[in-house]
Amino acid sequence: MNWLAMMIAATGGSAQDIRGGTFWMPESASTTAPEVDFVFYFIFAISAFFFALIIALTILFVIRYRARPGHSEQPSPSHNTALELTWSIIPSILVLMMFWYGFKTFMDQYTPPANAYEVLVNAQKWNWSFEYPNGYIDKDLHVPAGRPIRLVLTSQDVIHSFFVPAFRVKKDAVPGRYNKVWFEATRPGSYVVFCTEYCGTGHSDMMAHVVVHPPGEFDAWLEKAANFLDTLPPAEAGKLLYEQRGCTQCHSVDGSPRVGPSFKGLWGRTEKLSDGTEYTVDEDYLRESMVDPQAKVVAGFDPVMPTYAGRLKDKEITYIIEYIKSLGEDQP
Ligand code: CUA
Repeated sequence: MNWLAMMIAATGGSAQDIRGGTFWMPESASTTAPEVDFVFYFIFAISAFFFALIIALTILFVIRYRARPGHSEQPSPSHNTALELTWSIIPSILVLMMFWYGFKTFMDQYTPPANAYEVLVNAQKWNWSFEYPNGYIDKDLHVPAGRPIRLVLTSQDVIHSFFVPAFRVKKDAVPGRYNKVWFEATRPGSYVVFCTEYCGTGHSDMMAHVVVHPPGEFDAWLEKAANFLDTLPPAEAGKLLYEQRGCTQCHSVDGSPRVGPSFKGLWGRTEKLSDGTEYTVDEDYLRESMVDPQAKVVAGFDPVMPTYAGRLKDKEITYIIEYIKSLGEDQP
């Protein structure tokens, strides 16, 4: 068990999430992970060696050269060229080696191979969404093993940071800007994604998974996932979208208020708005709340919802409205 496994366990992670790793490092499942680990262990070993050497010499000199009867202070020699060259040249070489390995690993990590498969990553308070070349969007990142993946990251609101410990990959998602990073997963399995930039109330819950598919199975998965919604009744498709597009972070379906109002009994309810007027929840209100959330804010809630304009297709908005309807009408 290492620090990361303990952290994941503390946040309720599954046994699958906390396997592997050493005392110092989480499990390693990408091509860059061994490079990063080498840099860490290299710098760590040098630091540990010099820490031990300096402490040991300090103790030795304190004992050996302490003031005591029969010993008088000796004048110190002004120079020892050989000693001074030794303690300048050896550390210089070590520091240059640290720079070289660190620089090389950094450059490798931020220079994607030309044939990389591209996935768009969008961060918002407080969830991740991953968009594939065919337009399909998922709350988890699915990738094939053994193929370079290039991520293009941006954010809808504040700075978030995409971090997959098992891949040693970390990159900020910044609003109004596109950041790029790449990795190649080596082993099929499921790996945790964290947000590592403090981004507000839901920061510590802002997790996702990278699901690494065995080579050859990814394309079949993507094809199936992309067409899945059309095979479902609208309310069920809406439930899936509710779970996958991050609605669940702020809207419960059991009646308890979170950051936003619960979806249970929302349909047909007369809401008191923050400007004092009242509005009875219908299709148009729900649609507007998704594409222009600040237009009508329910009294007692902060106007913090990001817009989903352009991020939910019209059909998907309809599915979510049908799902909200299916959760029951307001009982006056
Ligand atoms: Cu997003 Cu922390």
